[in-house]
Amino acid sequence: MAHALYSLHPSFTIGEVDPRIYGSFVEHMGRCVYTGIFEPDHPSADENGFRQDVAELVKELGVTVVRYPGGNFVSGYNWEDGVGPVKDRPVRLDLAWGTREPNTFGTNEFIDWCRQTEIEPMFAVNLGTRGIDDARRFVEYCNHPGGTELSDLRHEHGYPEPHGIKFWCLGNEMDGPWQIGARPAREYGRLALQAAKVMRWVNDELAHTRDYLANMGQGGGRTQLDDDRFLTLAACGSSNREMKTYARWEYDVLDECFEAVDIISLHTYFKNPEGTTESFLENIDRLDDYISEVIAIADAVAATRRSPKRIMLSLDEWNVWYKSGHPVDTLDEGFPEHPPLIEEVFDAKDAMVVGGALIVLLNHADRVKAACTAQLVNIIAPIMTEPGGRAWKQTIFHPFALASKYGRGTALRAGHQDGAKLDFAATRDGDRVTVFALNRDLKESCELRVDVSGLGIDNVDVALAVGNTDTELTNTAEADNLAPVNIEGAKIEDGHLVASLPPASWCVLSCLPG
Ligand code: AHR
Repeated sequence: MAHALYSLHPSFTIGEVDPRIYGSFVEHMGRCVYTGIFEPDHPSADENGFRQDVAELVKELGVTVVRYPGGNFVSGYNWEDGVGPVKDRPVRLDLAWGTREPNTFGTNEFIDWCRQTEIEPMFAVNLGTRGIDDARRFVEYCNHPGGTELSDLRHEHGYPEPHGIKFWCLGNEMDGPWQIGARPAREYGRLALQAAKVMRWVNDELAHTRDYLANMGQGGGRTQLDDDRFLTLAACGSSNREMKTYARWEYDVLDECFEAVDIISLHTYFKNPEGTTESFLENIDRLDDYISEVIAIADAVAATRRSPKRIMLSLDEWNVWYKSGHPVDTLDEGFPEHPPLIEEVFDAKDAMVVGGALIVLLNHADRVKAACTAQLVNIIAPIMTEPGGRAWKQTIFHPFALASKYGRGTALRAGHQDGAKLDFAATRDGDRVTVFALNRDLKESCELRVDVSGLGIDNVDVALAVGNTDTELTNTAEADNLAPVNIEGAKIEDGHLVASLPPASWCVLSCLPG
């Protein structure tokens, strides 16, 4: 049997885990909104039309923040279409997905849903068909207390309290030829700069002080992610690491808008061109490389300005997506309303990759400050629904829920001492120390020993594995085949956490003092 020896020490840390790395994404696409989170005729729907069976699963998943309303959809979206009396809202063509958008769900419904499910909203502005004027108007509608036309309109719509939306994405995938209003990097960077400037001027109480303006304009710049008085603004990075313009795009965009933004986004969808589980798992390593490269580029832009500012990263779309094809392969003609699109059915190896990716995020906790699995319900999602019927967990639900529950606090920097190199991460949250490890070996268990002698823990509180040697095993509405199973015999002895990690499994070992 393979073995692996690691060590942890409280002084060796990576950074604070931002709870926003356990985010997700709701786009007006397919059945994510309609018959996903929102279905007024569903037996479980509340008076708002929110499916409570789905809301319960979302809470169990441990999602902290949800990006909305797109995705490609946002680049043709008029936010005004989705606010005010529902009977007055227009039906529109959605050119991103070739569908019909009824607009019976919009900004205020999404905010209500977020408040009910205790999730932070993350909004994207349309920098495709619209621009800086729309961006500032939308922030004013959402966040200004009152006494102006747009904030009073929100009052009229039944929302006297500002929504207080802190995190905003400046457009979506603006490098992609498929994107409505795609543009070259420097052009987009200049647009992002101007949009960011006015969005901040509308929202940030301190935005008109001399110090703030000087800082924004002169190459200093700060990130104020933890200060609720400031917006967190994310510029679009590349749509994926395979784009021809990748890396140059990140450099040029940040070179234009470095002072005004806090974050650069990354998107990735894991594919399986070689068709083997072993090669598929290498997506985990590619994600690690991708993150390291974007950090290097952001810091190179900082260096050209001699700036101490560090741009943070948001992996605000990520997941496995290769089995269900592209929407254009499946879409019916005639602009259907909420057709089923990319309803990927995940299997055991997908859960391994998702778990491995979460380990990568923890090991970059110092720079990755948000991440959103795409998407939350039905569209490449951990939760599936039947219209009018059942809701259930896909395989990838489990590693996400366990990571969100236990992977909080400070990420520790692990030392690899001997034996197999695993995908390995650890966190310390108060007294609780949690180890996450992926055993990529499809046949053999791995005997893990972790030196935890300096951490004051004596008991293994939780020891769970998600996986199966049948890596094509899926979940169904009837059977949660990938439900976590106990790792028998996990213990702490002689200052070491000891556990046998089953083959093809992603494992959580969470420990407490005695
Ligand atoms: O999540 C599906 C789509 O993938 C998003 O709309 C887009 O941003 C990405 O290309």
